[in-house]
Amino acid sequence: MSVITNRPKGTQDVVPAEVYKWQTVERCAAETAECFGFKEIRFPTFENTALFKRSVGDTTDVVQKEMYSVTAKSPANGKDPDDFTLRPEGTAGAARAAIENGLLNEALPQKVYYMISCFRHEKPQAGRLREFHQFGAEMYGSADASADAEVIALAKSLLGRLGLENVELFINSIGCPTCRAEYHKALKKYFEGRKDELCPTCLDRLERNPMRILDCKSPICQGIAKDAPVILDFLCDECSDHFEKLKKYLDDMDIKFSIDPKIVRGLDYYTKTVFEFITTDIGAQGTVCGGGRYDGLIEQLGGNPLPALGFAMGLERIIMTMEAAGSEFVPAKKCDLYIASMGEAAQKKAAVLANALRSEGYFVEFDTMNRGLKPQMKYANKIGATFTLVLGDNELETGAAKLKNMDSGEQTNISLGDKFIDEFSNSIVAEMFSGDILGE
Ligand code: HAM
Repeated sequence: MSVITNRPKGTQDVVPAEVYKWQTVERCAAETAECFGFKEIRFPTFENTALFKRSVGDTTDVVQKEMYSVTAKSPANGKDPDDFTLRPEGTAGAARAAIENGLLNEALPQKVYYMISCFRHEKPQAGRLREFHQFGAEMYGSADASADAEVIALAKSLLGRLGLENVELFINSIGCPTCRAEYHKALKKYFEGRKDELCPTCLDRLERNPMRILDCKSPICQGIAKDAPVILDFLCDECSDHFEKLKKYLDDMDIKFSIDPKIVRGLDYYTKTVFEFITTDIGAQGTVCGGGRYDGLIEQLGGNPLPALGFAMGLERIIMTMEAAGSEFVPAKKCDLYIASMGEAAQKKAAVLANALRSEGYFVEFDTMNRGLKPQMKYANKIGATFTLVLGDNELETGAAKLKNMDSGEQTNISLGDKFIDEFSNSIVAEMFSGDILGE
């Protein structure tokens, strides 16, 4: 494999012919989030490594095995070198940015969304990449179960708009630090009985954070974890009430769900509600969306205590699921007009007319390759231009040309003078409505 001509393992290119699929999802996600009152936030691709260790947790797979970290080579200030990490997820960066920019001192709840690339050094397979993309939404300020329902409703609504009504929702509660302490004791007792079979990382987790053994990727640890105690049996009254209230909300909002007491999520910051949307249509990596509540994180990162929650969807997995489901993508905009030209003067006129139409919002191209008429028309056909116009000496002299509808072959006269834009607009409008009239 050439290191020059091949992309790094686990990354993807999106070529122009495929980009409309991404644009469909990104636009739909932004529009849906905005309907729920979420506003876009942007934050750096890399952060101080300490941010992820503190928030995602230093006993998680993400921090222990998957982060791309670098130490800046020559620290400008002569002090200790700076340690940076490419973001493995968005919650930590969004929370850091919200605190640093004072968003959490403004009217609550604060609701933000983001469209970001993330980086995890995982073993690549279908739906699992080393650079992948997330649409995420975070809500700061509400401890109430109605907020959990609201965030789940946003994810559900977006999936619905993308034609993925059948992706299933699974929910669980992983409690608060109080009930978690009891659960940890039970887990420790269980795993201690099978200590000899655990992988070295999980042996360390057994001491520091036994819950993390539950999402170890080693098949042996996964097998042992199958029969481990479940957190739902250890919830305190407050967490249990919160979970009941959420279930009621979801029922009332007609959002179907199943309870999966095994969902613990692979990141340390979660408290109470956790949830995942899972599809069976794209193979083993079927979790298209994951999220939950993280009431302790803002304080942990140095902010004033503030409850928070959110989710992120993997865009590659969403697009794969849409393809499998036969969902519709919004096609790329088609060229409205291709202006073919013969000779230098005609080419100049083509440039002027093209710019005049573009300033009205039309998509127009003309020949910049100095090709003959035949290859120009071939190109117009290839890009699927709706209309073509041929300019030569004759057209320049008379100030008029023939506008050809490439679908029907019909030709109409068009003035190249002051009326050009109006006459072209009329033709485009007539073309738009012709399909409707014919019942197409
Ligand atoms: P996560 O479950 O680690 O949660 O990732 C969210 C989603 O990103 C997954 O459900 C999956 O669709 C996608 N994803 C994760 N890893 C990969 C990968 N290697 N390749 C392709 N897609 C992937 C989080 O990241 C949390 N920050 C979500 C959250 C937001 N919780 C609260 N707010």
